[in-house]
Amino acid sequence: MKVVVLHGSSRKGGDSDTLAECFLRGIREAGQPEVVHFYAIDMNIAHCRGCGGCTAGGACVIEDDMKLVYPAFCDADVVILAAPMFWGYMTSQLKTLFDRLEAIVSDRCFGGKDFVLFVTYRHYYGSIVEWLDRVSKGFGSRLHALTCRTYDPETQTDMPVASFPDKLEEATHLGRQVAALRSSSSG
Ligand SMILES: Cc1cc2nc3c(=O)[nH]c(=O)nc-3n(C[C@H](O)[C@H](O)[C@H](O)COP(=O)(O)O)c2cc1C
Repeated sequence: MKVVVLHGSSRKGGDSDTLAECFLRGIREAGQPEVVHFYAIDMNIAHCRGCGGCTAGGACVIEDDMKLVYPAFCDADVVILAAPMFWGYMTSQLKTLFDRLEAIVSDRCFGGKDFVLFVTYRHYYGSIVEWLDRVSKGFGSRLHALTCRTYDPETQTDMPVASFPDKLEEATHLGRQVAALRSSSSG
């Protein structure tokens, strides 16, 4: 099984990364997947220029780190998004990466996958779940979304995701479930 983790946070080992790690622990109980991590914050990824070059020639004309993401994403069985909410949506570095995936939009690269979305947030998460639900279904892929509010509104303080052991367990269990789904669909 091939797994790609798209890390949307600039805080390595933060809330969204922690949920992704719990998920990987669960999936590894069933075997040893190939896992590739992309930390968008550390990568050289230019903004999509909307030039249409990919429509004409089939590949993005910009030469940068997306050349690593394209084949890994396309071949992945499971794509994990570790996505903290910033201003009501995914972080800009993750959005920039996704905009560039426009170059490989196709049933081959977006279909038949399990997308796994970990959203950590203070106030709101709806927009990103709605977006990825629509995209996944549109290509015949599945979406598994787990959200965690990392904030106490009463005291108005952030709470690390580690203070929600039920969410950590839920993420690990989801890893087991997705491993089982993949093995039953592969035959
Ligand atoms: C600059 C900034 C903007 C944020 N904007 C939002 C927001 O609009 N809505 C929200 O629910 N949470 C917002 N948050 C809270 C984070 O999404 C939340 O703390 C999350 O758990 C951080 O995850 P991470 O540790 O993986 O980066 C914001 C945090 C920062 C630092």
